[in-house]
Amino acid sequence: MRGYFGVGAERISKPLNLGAVLRTGHAFGASFAFTIAAHHKAQLIHLSDTAKSALHIPLYEWAGLEEMKLPRGCALVGVELDPVAIDLPSFRHPLNAAYLFGPEKGDLSPESKALCTHLVKIPTRFCVNLSVAAAIVMYDRMISMGRFADRPVRTGGPPSEKDWAPLSGRPRLCEKN
Ligand SMILES: C[S@@+](CC[C@H](N)C(=O)[O-])C[C@H]1O[C@@H](n2cnc3c(N)ncnc32)[C@H](O)[C@@H]1O
Repeated sequence: MRGYFGVGAERISKPLNLGAVLRTGHAFGASFAFTIAAHHKAQLIHLSDTAKSALHIPLYEWAGLEEMKLPRGCALVGVELDPVAIDLPSFRHPLNAAYLFGPEKGDLSPESKALCTHLVKIPTRFCVNLSVAAAIVMYDRMISMGRFADRPVRTGGPPSEKDWAPLSGRPRLCEKN
């Protein structure tokens, strides 16, 4: 897939959520992960990150927004259930993006929103879990930027396997926990 992306959260407090974001980011091919002003408990990711994802993608732990340093040209995309946010299904993902999620309790801070190039929302009736939101956004990026055969008009998959081009090589089996 062209481009790259990173995934991170502001004021995240639960190690289970951070572990899930890292593992899912690793699975979807994130180039880096980051936290901003994370609660110290969130650092206990070894309790939850069963794929040891922190060994495979760099995790930047910034104490505050002022420390955040994204690669040149990397767009910060805020993800929040906010009335002014763009609906994710109508959003064109930047080639180089860092997706920023809010904390388990509360929203993205006004200061972080002000730094975002885009603000997107998943059109749900209410907030979903942070790591679930991260998985949805990464999946949306993959299906909209990856090279897959168009969906057929009729139920089912494309007519033959040669029309089906997975992201990179053969699909892999699920990693063991
Ligand atoms: C559990 S939610 C935050 C709690 C929520 N603000 C509340 O108090 O009801 C954690 C984060 O997940 C992301 N999130 C969850 N549902 C979302 C949605 N439907 N659209 C966009 N982001 C969402 C946002 O980044 C949010 O800050």
